[in-house]
Amino acid sequence: MIKDGTIGMQEDISKVRLSYGRAIAKQEFLPRFYEIFLASDPSIARKFENTDLKKQQELLAMSVNMVILFPQENKIAKNAVGRIRESHQRSGLNIEPRFYGFWISSLIQAVAEHDLEFDAALEASWRKILQVAIDYIIEGY
Ligand code: HEM
Repeated sequence: MIKDGTIGMQEDISKVRLSYGRAIAKQEFLPRFYEIFLASDPSIARKFENTDLKKQQELLAMSVNMVILFPQENKIAKNAVGRIRESHQRSGLNIEPRFYGFWISSLIQAVAEHDLEFDAALEASWRKILQVAIDYIIEGY
């Protein structure tokens, strides 16, 4: 079944996938994301105190793809995001919902710096797409 909104989302998903492809092709993109994200709030930096950021960057590179595919009801994406929703909940990594706004703005800033085709319309597509999986993850907190 094709859900309401899925068709309208498709174009945003395509644009965001291409944008992500252009950004991630740049070596500095993922380290830059973590630099911005960890600097955005002291409690976020504290959460990653004992994290191997090199490994974390690889995990993130894959999971952002899953987050982008999530709104079109992709089964693999649904599973992957569902797993993140479980690991990040209160009884697990305990990632408070307020942190996700920082995650979105950090990712968008890093994309803006690395995707040469980035503009306001593309930013709107990014925000629209990311919010779907984020809402689902926060709902599980
Ligand atoms: C949609 C947004 C996010 C995605 C896609 C994501 C993805 C992931 C993935 C794939 C992992 C490793 C596997 C796992 O534990 O599930 C992870 C671990 C982690 N995430 Fe997230 N995450 C997101 C948001 C956040 C936010 C907002 C925070 C806030 C601080 C956060 C903090 C962490 C921490 C502390 C770990 C564990 C790191 C370690 O192993 O030391 N994540 N995340």
